[in-house]
Amino acid sequence: MINVGIVGFGTVGTGTARILVNNRGLLRERTGVDINLRRIADLDTRRDRGIKLPKGTLTKDAGSLINDPEIDIIVELVGGTTFAKDLMLRAIAAGKHVVTANKALLATHGNEIFSAARKAGVEVGFEASVAGGIPIIKVVREGLVANRIRAIYGIINGTTNYILTKMTDEGAEFSEVLKEAQRLGYAEADPTYDIEGIDSAHKLAILASLAYGARYSVKDVYAEGISWISPMDIDFARELGYKLKLLAIAKEVGGKIELRVHPTMVPEEYLISKVDGVYNAIYVEGDAVGSTLYYGRGAGDMPTGSAVVSDIAEIARGISDKTAGRAAGRQSLSGKKNLMKMDDVMSMYYFRFSALDKPGVLSKISGILGKHHISIVSVIQKGRHASKAVPLVVLTHRAREKDVTRAVREINRLPVVVGKTVFIRVEGKEED
Ligand code: HSE
Repeated sequence: MINVGIVGFGTVGTGTARILVNNRGLLRERTGVDINLRRIADLDTRRDRGIKLPKGTLTKDAGSLINDPEIDIIVELVGGTTFAKDLMLRAIAAGKHVVTANKALLATHGNEIFSAARKAGVEVGFEASVAGGIPIIKVVREGLVANRIRAIYGIINGTTNYILTKMTDEGAEFSEVLKEAQRLGYAEADPTYDIEGIDSAHKLAILASLAYGARYSVKDVYAEGISWISPMDIDFARELGYKLKLLAIAKEVGGKIELRVHPTMVPEEYLISKVDGVYNAIYVEGDAVGSTLYYGRGAGDMPTGSAVVSDIAEIARGISDKTAGRAAGRQSLSGKKNLMKMDDVMSMYYFRFSALDKPGVLSKISGILGKHHISIVSVIQKGRHASKAVPLVVLTHRAREKDVTRAVREINRLPVVVGKTVFIRVEGKEED
């Protein structure tokens, strides 16, 4: 029998416990190992989570799980990067295998945790840290191991996808929909992590580390959020044949790795454009396999619990086969990071200028764009006001980020341009 201790009996802890209890027989059939949920630690031991647990399972003392010689696997589901880090390191030092859903912890202190695990010869399971129930860690690490990964494009934050979907479908303002997402419990404890793209950046750093063989941290990811997106930009995107999504992008371009999270206009016919609400999806392109796409629930008690239990089952099997711990050092992440600077990233762009509707305005703007090597594909102007600003939308061919930021700075200084220029990166094939 393999004994498991869970620390953190919140949303994901509850889902994990429910699966371990309800599917114990099924897991035994599938793995050949009996997995027993021995202890759960949480400060709140009173609230009824609707799971039948033997008396004495619950405790307030997380340390007692680490000190319990019978426990083989500690599952960290408290979140955050302070207590959780300490707990993981203590569990590892005590020779326990560990499983976590904590993307912030791994994307910030991954190095320390993985090297401690390597030294101690224990496993670190983290399937649940990216895209909840979608087994994307196994996909990138195992299923696609034969491939040089060309690109990863992910919708890996359910809260922002929910907000953008509602804004698209109902023309609602960002702040209104955020409140609703918080009420429904999708957002992180601090919703800044969701809406400023930081949660997606954590997850992208974890995926990129597996895909490109170096230990990327959240600091290596350029992140831009969605709080400044207006329904007007979503409408223009639609008119131009695009959906607006918060994409996490990892790409190898000329031997350099681009890591970026930002609102992106995606052609509406792409499958990933059809991923709505709290759902997540990840597109992975490999040199051998070509295009692949993975879709599912990226958050919530049972989907995330499904991923946590998959790690527990794999480790339990390993313990029983006496192979657990060997995988800890199997994956080499010692490669060079070779990061592409954001300034050097090439992309197509959408601009929305707020310009006075006067003769010669467009030529002034296009003159500055041309001077910075930015070539225009199409222009839309809406409304007519002799004295008021109107939105002027410009779609461009591929341009360099550095040129774009310089051009925007110059255009914002034109007397005929009132209000800040909005620019959004555009994905898709360049038209001939
Ligand atoms: N806040 C995250 C999301 C939860 O919205 O996707 C899952 O990591």
